[in-house]
Amino acid sequence: MEQTKEPTRDYPSYSSTPWGLWEVLYGRRSHRKYLQYEVGPEWKASLEKVVKLALETRGADGESLLVVTDERLVERIRTRLHKGVQGKINLWLNRSPLLGFLVLALPKQDVRSERPRDLPLTAMAAEDVVLWLTESGMGTCWLGGINQGEIKSALGLGREHFVAAVIPFGKPKPRVKARDLDHLMYRSISRKRKPIPAIACLETIDRPYALPDIAEERFSASSVQDVAGLLRQLREKRESADGVPLDLAVDACLEAARIAPSAGNTQKWLFVAVAGEQALRGLAGACGVDGGWKAAVVGVGDTVTGFLYEKMEKPFWMIDLPIAFSQMSLMAASMGLALDLSLRDIDEAAVNALVGLRPPLRAVGVMGIR
Ligand SMILES: Cc1cc2nc3c(=O)[nH]c(=O)nc-3n(C[C@H](O)[C@H](O)[C@H](O)COP(=O)(O)O)c2cc1C
Repeated sequence: MEQTKEPTRDYPSYSSTPWGLWEVLYGRRSHRKYLQYEVGPEWKASLEKVVKLALETRGADGESLLVVTDERLVERIRTRLHKGVQGKINLWLNRSPLLGFLVLALPKQDVRSERPRDLPLTAMAAEDVVLWLTESGMGTCWLGGINQGEIKSALGLGREHFVAAVIPFGKPKPRVKARDLDHLMYRSISRKRKPIPAIACLETIDRPYALPDIAEERFSASSVQDVAGLLRQLREKRESADGVPLDLAVDACLEAARIAPSAGNTQKWLFVAVAGEQALRGLAGACGVDGGWKAAVVGVGDTVTGFLYEKMEKPFWMIDLPIAFSQMSLMAASMGLALDLSLRDIDEAAVNALVGLRPPLRAVGVMGIR
């Protein structure tokens, strides 16, 4: 099947009210060319506010996602981040005027542990902010190939820290058909995505998900569609009354995960949609929550990384899957659904057993739909 980022189906047509989050999800892409641009203090203040909101909503440490907008510091990071072997893929930074960086700064002990607990929460919050930036007309690009020493010394971070990724942001240069790296990367790598049936399963890992025929019946998407509003809705576990058909809800969440960015666009992930009552009870128990779920999606990471990514010594499965969970959960909120999202304190062995995972596949988290 062809790999494409084209929508799997015309999702917005199922809602009688505007379902605007799709525009942000499909509109986000990695930008590697930027324009000189300036923003005022109010804009920076709203960015700081959203970062705080995202970290709080995801239950992440308040200091784990740094915002760098000081001009001199931005210049220092921009010109030194790509030094060394790992950073070579990001030489394009040399030619890019930027407004700032988001920096995922975590305890080294956590990132290097057998199952990071802090990293996935911060990665989710970072993707929330990426989507907010997209909504504000800014371009972003997740970067894993970075020089640790340079970024840590620029920010005064000690040996106990590990910078898992950084995200430059700025005013993106409109895409033109040119033979430049941005265009080449976009055409040859970034535009591709595996189709839903190649990344999704039903109940257990050995049962493929077939795209359902979704009835024509319409629902009303939430009147809240902006990223900050949706984060607030998730934080308060608010749900709206107008029920979305469950098959559409699950399908839309899978689409939101499918088009999420991943390191090198490797998409080393699977998503298991669960609706069986007994399995749902088991999953809720493994997440330590009461449950009462209508359905759940288990996010699964393939922990074997390719040669290039092994050299970076980062658990990319604990970054890529949380990015997909950010997009899935915002999508669920845009349909007015309330969730229990568990990535940190799950009984992984129990979840793995319930959906039939064996190494190198590991459960990263569970999104229970109430
Ligand atoms: C964790 C992570 C690390 C990444 N590292 C880099 C990087 O070092 N350099 C780069 O140019 N792009 C990097 N990317 C961007 C991906 O290549 C990009 O997201 C993917 O090709 C999908 O394209 P899209 O973001 O345009 O949809 C990274 C993405 C993620 C999620």
